[in-house]
Amino acid sequence: MEQYVIKGGNPLVGEVEIGGAKNAALAILAAAIMTDETVTIENLPNVRDINALLEVMEEIGARIDRVDAHTVKVNGSYVKEVPVDHDSMKKIRASYYLLGALLGKYKRAEVILPGGCNIGSRPMDLHIKGFRALGAHVEIRNGAVAAEAEHLKGNHIYLDKVSVGATINIMMAAAMAEGKTTIENAAKEPHVVDVANFLNSMGANIRGAGTDVIRIVGVKRLHKTEYSIIPDQIEAGTFMFAAAATKGDVTVKNVIPKHLEATTAKLLEVGCEVEELDDAVRVVASKPLKNTQVTTLPYPGFPTDMQPQMTVVLGTACGTSTVTESIFENRFKYVDELTRMGASVKVESSIAIITGVDHYTGARVSALDLRAGAALVIAGMAAEGVTVIDDIHYIQRGYENFEGKLRGLGAQIERVETEKEIRKFRFKVS
Ligand code: EPZ
Repeated sequence: MEQYVIKGGNPLVGEVEIGGAKNAALAILAAAIMTDETVTIENLPNVRDINALLEVMEEIGARIDRVDAHTVKVNGSYVKEVPVDHDSMKKIRASYYLLGALLGKYKRAEVILPGGCNIGSRPMDLHIKGFRALGAHVEIRNGAVAAEAEHLKGNHIYLDKVSVGATINIMMAAAMAEGKTTIENAAKEPHVVDVANFLNSMGANIRGAGTDVIRIVGVKRLHKTEYSIIPDQIEAGTFMFAAAATKGDVTVKNVIPKHLEATTAKLLEVGCEVEELDDAVRVVASKPLKNTQVTTLPYPGFPTDMQPQMTVVLGTACGTSTVTESIFENRFKYVDELTRMGASVKVESSIAIITGVDHYTGARVSALDLRAGAALVIAGMAAEGVTVIDDIHYIQRGYENFEGKLRGLGAQIERVETEKEIRKFRFKVS
């Protein structure tokens, strides 16, 4: 099993290039099978979750041509709506997007109930409510969601809770239903807009993505397209917070600054300088960090996927801060790991109360999920001494060449596999 080994204490300085948005790419790849023509997708992040979904798509019959690390051609003309191998689907939560895509295209789909990061219960009731409203018969059978319809018919759908996955899944199925669908209380995340733009480039008729009412007029057929995925706001935010935690000066390039507003606002509150350029943001942390309050909310609120990284920044800020998690109930498990590094954090229900400490100290910790893992890497870079992070396969699900990009900013971080390599690293940096 691979680990990261980090010698902390260097401020991160320099420029870093951000890749395509993982969570947009997962939905867009699934949607690409909705036409029988070949679709070209560019700016695809080369991360484990994407590669796992591509494998699942190949298993159900899609032809995948990896043009280069960040470009793929997908042909969905041989796709089967019932999976051959359930096990591969279990590995990746986003395989649930195949439900909306297959149901829209073939009016029939079966997908195993998803796995993914363990950050709380991840129900699918809203996805199912949406498919049923479109006229599908949906049941849970042998651990899978099976949906079938003679005709999908547009409808008015109100989502009781804002859900990225349900909004996108329903949007995909409705894109090929008969007549008009309205999704109310829709998620407004940039990747919802990106998926709508992608489907529209294939001939769909979707309006209002990015607001809380999405209107869709179903079409009979979708066609080929060439599409480039938007930059990853969470990867960008992670580097912005890494700059803050290490008292660095980092320019994060190839981003859409508007998508980063909640992150930028919190960095300004804690005393960083943030300069917005056309397609880049520069974060300078030259003063001691100040405390603040944060609550995670659906977009444009502060993203839950940035919550652990924010906690790490506040862990060495002056005074007491609070971080309230309102999306997933189990997203504070990493706090025990951070405590081993000297943080003073008390979790009461959905609120973390953080008393800033002077500095973190290196320790052996474990990445418990994707974003928590990235947060521990940030803590390791800010810490005195050496940190070893186990289970980095979680981090690799969503960050491409994380250690390489960090090294480019001056971090001392290596990916290792054995205790001997860890000892060698300790010797080298001592
Ligand atoms: C997406 O998950 C992302 N995953 C998550 O990214 C992200 O944390 C999350 O959105 C919130 O932004 C992908 O895009 C693949 P939701 P998703 O449906 O779609 C409840 C990362 O680190 N809910 O918006 O599964 C749910 O329990 C990850 O990249 C229902 O109650 O999230 C949660 O409280 C992890 N019923 C809330 O809605 C449903 O049917 C929001 O979840 C669906 C969701």
